[in-house]
Amino acid sequence: MAYLTILSYPDPRLYRKAAPVQSVDDSVRALVRDMADTMYAARGVGLAATQVDVHKRVIVIDISEARDHLLTLINPVIVEKEGTQYSEEGCLSVPGVYDRVERAQRVKIQALGSTGESFELVAEQMLAVCIQHEMDHLEGKVFVDYLSRLKQARIRARMEKQLRKSVKTSAIHPPIF
Ligand code: NI
Repeated sequence: MAYLTILSYPDPRLYRKAAPVQSVDDSVRALVRDMADTMYAARGVGLAATQVDVHKRVIVIDISEARDHLLTLINPVIVEKEGTQYSEEGCLSVPGVYDRVERAQRVKIQALGSTGESFELVAEQMLAVCIQHEMDHLEGKVFVDYLSRLKQARIRARMEKQLRKSVKTSAIHPPIF
């Protein structure tokens, strides 16, 4: 198992656009496994490679309650979208922050799986939200970017405060390995 470091908002590396995966080889499969381990350990429902500072179009998702339905999306493309829904979103890169975002109610995507096979998937409700949220990460977009400037400023201040606190804490306590 390997746990990757998740970038925190407003880290500028979250704003990089990811490049398509040229071939689904062992290095990509290793990345998928490490991303899945990281997502499960952090109790997230989705993680994009951008969030672990790998700028390739790779996403892992698991919205199942039992946490045993891993969905891997490589080079995902939305081919159809329909309707509108609003839901509270959170993000592993913006811990403790949740807000309402508008998304398509239903999306149809094409992607490659971890064995390199091409597939189509129709997603609705929460899975559709999750796919759109993670695909935004690959474009260098964070859900916070949809909120008002005032909210964005507040979140930035809050994240900076959290960062200062964690730096202070690690200076007082010896590191735990
Ligand atoms: Ni996110």
